[in-house]
Amino acid sequence: MQIRNSWVPAGMGADVSRIMDTRHPVGRPVAGDSFLRFGSLKRPLPGPLPLNKTGIFYTPSHRQYYHQWLWDSAFHAIILSHYDTDEAKKELSSLFDEQWDNGMVAQIRFNPSNRIAPYRPNAEDWGTGRPTSGITQPPLIGSALKVVFEKSGDRQFLAETFDKAMKFQEWMKAEREIPGTKLIGIVHPWESGTDNSPIFDGIRDRLVAGTFANVEVPPRADKLNVDEAQRPLEEDYKVYWGLLRQFRALGWDQKKMVEQSPFLVAEPLFNSLWIKSNEDMADLADALGRPADARKLRGWAEASRKDMRKYMWNRKDGFFYAYDFRAQSQIKVKTVNGLIPIYARVPTRHQARRLVREHLANPEAFYGKHGVPSTAFNESTYDPKRYWRGPVWINTQWLLVNGLRDYSYDVYANELTAKAKALTGKAGFREYYHPETGEGLGAKDFSWSTLTEIL
Ligand code: GLC
Repeated sequence: MQIRNSWVPAGMGADVSRIMDTRHPVGRPVAGDSFLRFGSLKRPLPGPLPLNKTGIFYTPSHRQYYHQWLWDSAFHAIILSHYDTDEAKKELSSLFDEQWDNGMVAQIRFNPSNRIAPYRPNAEDWGTGRPTSGITQPPLIGSALKVVFEKSGDRQFLAETFDKAMKFQEWMKAEREIPGTKLIGIVHPWESGTDNSPIFDGIRDRLVAGTFANVEVPPRADKLNVDEAQRPLEEDYKVYWGLLRQFRALGWDQKKMVEQSPFLVAEPLFNSLWIKSNEDMADLADALGRPADARKLRGWAEASRKDMRKYMWNRKDGFFYAYDFRAQSQIKVKTVNGLIPIYARVPTRHQARRLVREHLANPEAFYGKHGVPSTAFNESTYDPKRYWRGPVWINTQWLLVNGLRDYSYDVYANELTAKAKALTGKAGFREYYHPETGEGLGAKDFSWSTLTEIL
């Protein structure tokens, strides 16, 4: 990429060149070649974003999900930075409004103007003493911060926000690293962002047959606007509530949760986003003249990468599987999560070739007419309409397109881009899509599906 000085927004100074020189060793920068071209731009927002704006943050979808979700808002900040950098900065900052003292940013922050909403679990159910849930979600924040900085060029914003983002990474490392490994553990399926993925079926069945057999599930508001056939099952909710109540009894002490949770999984999508955020933040640390932080963050990324290859890579199948740390074994279910490591340069070239040839480009597995399904077509649990068990989700296509470009699989990246754009172009910005027909499914007016507009 040619660096043209005229792209550099005011106030960036000499440090910009440092950021701009920080390439992905095997590819190009995250935000594409156009980054830094705009200073503080103001363009009309795409699709449902104006509808989903609350004044404090953007909701994933005003009818179904009227609170704030962590990784949704990070995606929103990335999208917004291409349209209105002030809005992007606000969206990212709002994620820290309710940051916990220990550094955690929670999966959900409740909408203060929607306190009587029927959504359960609500703030009282969680009982964290804050207007948030007590668990986290895929750590995309560091990467979002890099994009927002690249697009806005706002150094002051970067300086103010970096420490908060750093505190979040530090928390994750200190309280969520699985002892004896460099992997980050999730203690609840909701933390994965892919709630009812068949990855978690085995654990669910084990729990529902034992510890959680009698868990009571309160009335479900998630089925009010969306057909039940497209939502998780009652057994899934037993696990969601069972874990919530168990952690609440532990006073939301995150270390104890890792020690005692019957659900402890290292999951490839989550760990990939952790790795990429560390590396993106290392670039930002360089720009801020903080080499010690940069070194530390790169070290964390590299160590986690190594352990992902050690625990998750399955040489026989050529795939990254989630690892169940209670059963001490890989969970051999093929879902889109196992392809996402390509987004964080986890696979070696050889591993990447196997991921692409044997899985992503294999019509029996993940190569669909409308993109990459959330669960492989040839898994027995594949279900084209049910949430994370088959439908195509736009955020995963975006992660894959970026990863494919990094490894110079441009043909597949371009194809996937075209398919994703066709989905939202024809069916609108829905939560997910039928992988065989392209039909829009789940919630309507779904914010992160506008990622197709920046692909
Ligand atoms: C669902 C999704 C999760 C998302 C949330 C809000 O729970 O599984 O990934 O963050 O909805 O959109």
